[in-house]
Amino acid sequence: MASFIPEEKIVEIREACNIVEVVGETVVLKKAGKNYLGLCPFHAEKTPSFTVSPDKQMFYCFGCGEGGNVFTFLMKQQAMTFPEAVKYLADRTGIALPERRQTPEQKRRLSEKEAILELNELTMGLYQKTLRQDPKGQPARDYLAKRRFQKDIIDHFYIGFAPAGWDNLTRYFQRRGVPLELAERAGLVTRRKQGQGYYDRFRERIIFPIRDNRGRVIAFGGRVLDDALPKYLNSPETDVYRKSRSLYGLDKAQARCRATELVYIVEGYFDVMALHQNGIHNAVGTLGTALTTDHARLLRGYIGQSGQAILVFDSDEAGIKAAHRSIDIFAQEFVEARILVLPTGHDPDTYMMTYGPEAFQEKARDAKGIMPFLIDAAIERHGDSMEGRIKVLGDVAESMAAFQDPVARSVYIKYLAEKVDIDETAILDRIRQVSAKARPNTGGRSTFSAPQTSSPGKRSGGSKIERQLIAMMLQFPDILPEVRKENIVGLIDDPHLKAIGQDIINGGESLTASGARPEGHEREAIRRLRAQLSLIEEAWNYKGCHSLIHQFVLTKKRREAVPLEEQIREAERSHDEKRWLQLLEEKQRRVKRDREHRCKTGFPNEVD
Ligand code: UTP
Ligand code: MN
Repeated sequence: MASFIPEEKIVEIREACNIVEVVGETVVLKKAGKNYLGLCPFHAEKTPSFTVSPDKQMFYCFGCGEGGNVFTFLMKQQAMTFPEAVKYLADRTGIALPERRQTPEQKRRLSEKEAILELNELTMGLYQKTLRQDPKGQPARDYLAKRRFQKDIIDHFYIGFAPAGWDNLTRYFQRRGVPLELAERAGLVTRRKQGQGYYDRFRERIIFPIRDNRGRVIAFGGRVLDDALPKYLNSPETDVYRKSRSLYGLDKAQARCRATELVYIVEGYFDVMALHQNGIHNAVGTLGTALTTDHARLLRGYIGQSGQAILVFDSDEAGIKAAHRSIDIFAQEFVEARILVLPTGHDPDTYMMTYGPEAFQEKARDAKGIMPFLIDAAIERHGDSMEGRIKVLGDVAESMAAFQDPVARSVYIKYLAEKVDIDETAILDRIRQVSAKARPNTGGRSTFSAPQTSSPGKRSGGSKIERQLIAMMLQFPDILPEVRKENIVGLIDDPHLKAIGQDIINGGESLTASGARPEGHEREAIRRLRAQLSLIEEAWNYKGCHSLIHQFVLTKKRREAVPLEEQIREAERSHDEKRWLQLLEEKQRRVKRDREHRCKTGFPNEVD
C-alpha cells in the first residue's frame, strides 16, 4: 500500500499525542506502577489485563493478545482506517497534514465519510433553525412545550423540525449545490420511484440528531406530531452510522457516566432528554433496538470495572423481555446490570415529568439485579404450586447459564433454591442440561463451555527463551552489538520472533514493525507480539543479558546434536510446553512420513 502521509509526519504525530490520554477517553484507566491498567475494549473480561505504557506509547492486552500503538488502537476501537486515525490525531495535536499524494480511492473513502458528516451537520442546522424561528416550526414548538421540554434542553440536544412538504431539504441542498446522490447515501433524501429527482426522508417530524461520542452527527431520528405511523423514522445505516454501535445521548452522558460509574439505559429519545432535563446526565438511549455486545462494551469503557448499568423499562412485560435478551450480553461483558421497572403506563419521560428526579432515583436504588428480577418475575407469573415452581426453573435456567462468573452463578442458584424450595444440585443439573444444548451457533457462550480466549502460551510465538531475547532487544538496546556478534537472530526458530529481531537489528524501531501500517495477518500477529514483548516488565542489566545470550547459544548448540527423543524429554523436564508440542508434532510428521514410505515400498503397515 503506497502511503500518502510521509513517515516523518506519522512519527511527529505519534510523538505529539499521549496514548494514555487517547485510550483514556473511552477506557477507564488506573495507574499501576509504570503503566496504566483497564478493562480491555477488545474482549470481555472481569479483571483488567489491558495495559497501556506511557513510556513505550503502546498498549497490550494480556488477556486477548491485542496490542499496538495509538494508531492501531483507534483503528481497532473506533473502526477507523489508518489514514483516518492519522488525520484524527493530527487534528487533535494541531499538526498540519499535506493533502497531496493521496490515491483517488483513499481520497474518496475518507472524503465520503467526511462529506456525509458535513451534510448531516448542515441538515441539523437547518432543522434547528426551523424549530427555533420559522413560522412553519410553530406546531413543533407547541408540541414540545406541551410535553414540557424546556428550551435549554432542546438546544442541548440540538433538536430540530422538518416541516411539512416533500422537498424542503432537497431544494435547500440544490440551492447549495450539494450532490443529491451524496444526500441519498447519507439517508437524507430518497430517489423517486417514478419520474426523476428526490424527496426528503423526514417530513413533518421533530428531528433528533444522533451524535457519536465525539459529538459528530451520524444520523437522525424523527417523530410525528400526532398519532400517524410510523411514530418514529430513523436514518438508515450509512458509512458513518452503525445502529448496533450507537447510543443516543452518549456525547452528553459520557462525562457523568465516568464520574458516577453508573449509566441509565432507556429506550427513547424523549426518555433520554427527560432524564437530562431533570439533572440525571448519565442516561443514554438504545432507540428501540435491542442492546448489543458493542453497546455493553462501549459503556463499560466509561463506567469501568466496578460500574453499573441500570436498564429502565416501562412495564414488566417489556422489562422481562429485554432482561432475557440482554442477560447474555451483560454476563459476557461482566457488566453488573440492574432492572428498573416503572409503574404501568409510565416510561422514564412521563414518570420524570410526573414524579420528579428524587422519586426516580429512589426507584433506581431499589432496582433488582437482572437475575433476581427474572426469578421474581417468573414466580409471579407461574405461582408457587409444584408445577409453577418447575416452570419457574425452566424459565430461568437458560439465563442462569449465561453467567460465566462462578461466584455470581452460585449466588443466584442459592437465591432461586430458597425462593422455589428446590435443591441447589437439582438446579445446577438443570442449568447444565440447558447449557449443553444451548445455542450452538448463535455465538452465545455459556458458563460450561470453554473460554474463547486462547492461553497466552499458545498465542505468542516462540519458546520462552526466544521471547525473552526479543524482549531484551526491545527494552535494552545497549545489548544489540553483542546480539549481532553472536548472530542471535539467525538462531531464533520462531518466524515471528525472527522477523521482529531482524527488524530491530536493521534499524531499531521501524514504523512498520511497531504497527503503524498493518499488512495482512502476518504483520498483525507480529505487531501484537512486539507490543507484548516490549511491555513485559523486567529489569535488564548487562550481566543478566550476557548470561541469557550465553544460555541460548549453548542450548542451540546442544540441540543440534541431540536426537529427537532426547529433545522431547528435555522439553518435558523443563516444562517448555510449546517446544514439547512442536517436537511431538515433528515426531508425528516423521512417523507419518515413515509409514507412507513403508506403504509405498510395499512393506506391511505395522502401525495400529
Ligand atoms: P416508544 O414507542 O416507547 O416511544 O419507542 P417513546 O420514546 O416513548 O416516544 P414518545 O414518548 O411516545 O414520543 C421507544 C423508542 O423506540 C424507537 C424510538 O427511538 C423511540 O424513542 N422507535 C419507536 C422507533 O425507532 N420506531 C418506532 O416506530 C417506534
Ligand atoms: Mn415516551
